[in-house]
Amino acid sequence: MIHINEHYLKLQASYLFSDIARRVASFQEAHPDREVIKLGIGDVTQPLPPACIKAFHAAVDEMGSRDGFRGYGPEQGYAFLREAIAREDFLARGAVVASDEIFVSDGAKCDTGNIQELFGLDAKIAIPDPVYPVYLDTNVMAGRTGGFKDGRYEGIVYLDSTAANNYVPELPREPVDLIYLCFPNNPTGSTISKEQLRRWVDFAREHKALILFDAAYEAFIRDPALPHSIYEIEGAREVAVEFRSFSKSAGFTGTRCAYTVVPRDCMAYDRQGNRQPLHPLWNRRHCTKFNGVSYPVQRAAEAVYSPEGKAQCKELIDGYLANAALIAQAMRDLGYRFVGGDNAPYIWIDGRRDSWEFFDLLLDKAGVVCTPGAGFGKCGQGYIRISAFNSRENVVRAMERIRAALA
Ligand code: MLT
Repeated sequence: MIHINEHYLKLQASYLFSDIARRVASFQEAHPDREVIKLGIGDVTQPLPPACIKAFHAAVDEMGSRDGFRGYGPEQGYAFLREAIAREDFLARGAVVASDEIFVSDGAKCDTGNIQELFGLDAKIAIPDPVYPVYLDTNVMAGRTGGFKDGRYEGIVYLDSTAANNYVPELPREPVDLIYLCFPNNPTGSTISKEQLRRWVDFAREHKALILFDAAYEAFIRDPALPHSIYEIEGAREVAVEFRSFSKSAGFTGTRCAYTVVPRDCMAYDRQGNRQPLHPLWNRRHCTKFNGVSYPVQRAAEAVYSPEGKAQCKELIDGYLANAALIAQAMRDLGYRFVGGDNAPYIWIDGRRDSWEFFDLLLDKAGVVCTPGAGFGKCGQGYIRISAFNSRENVVRAMERIRAALA
């Protein structure tokens, strides 16, 4: 008899964004005449930067020629892309990352979900609340938690991110082994200072723990004092893996390209307490389970770092940040407390009522889709997240409708 992995039965209903999509679809079926504006899932809406499209086309043409054709590429990514990433995303900011410490992949969601395979099933995991659900769900699937009770999984050390700590969690009071951090944060849009991040790095070093640092939204940072990479902090290379993505920085959600940095000096431990470098383990996993991102997509990603590509990506992100400012202004005018939107594409709003109730209200009265904060964890109850990923026109119309609905 074939048995299932019963840890899957512990998972709460469906994946948050699938749940929302279903609710929106049934609303649209019931109200075919109502136009819905989606500010829920953080999916980009603007076309790819022209520099990326040009490189993409040229690479597709190469694939159609006898000389330019390529079969399997290196699983870790082509050198041209890894070298551009190391130079532009790290060395240019004074962070030391070598090109062979970069693993190109098809998404930060997959990488942040897969990385937990490298660690013992008894690892003590610290996860922020609210949180991007993938970190938590993948540990539940692997069997690192008990059951779901009172809105939380047993066995997880939750790191509360609330108004009281300005949505930057305090260090855990007990030792933990694996720490998930995401800054600029999804879902709250909050940011972490270098000093605060240094405390996490010091904590990880003291406890021989590992930080999984999700920096998928770093391109939205406009405050020059904020760190873009955890490797800007001294000592982080030994205790941190960093995840990045072209999804939000260059509009690649449908194109798929991201990368993970595993420094050669980043360590975990075997049962005898010996230091074990993570780089060969992740490399082994990557080579066994992944066949690389397509050549044209990697050429398109490389173009992000050209002078035109940099200017076009900045313009893209400035556009989303201007949307975020409009959302923030509307919430301020309506008297809601919120965080985010200035160095992140998300605005986290204290709705002063049940999250799903607020979600339904915005959908019914304004025809606007947001994300209920409760879907990101217990501390998200009472909040909603509004995403700035849409056209200016749609954001302006959505805010007009929300102002009318909530006034
Ligand atoms: C979100 O809305 O939180 C993101 O789009 C999810 C993701 O990037 O996978």
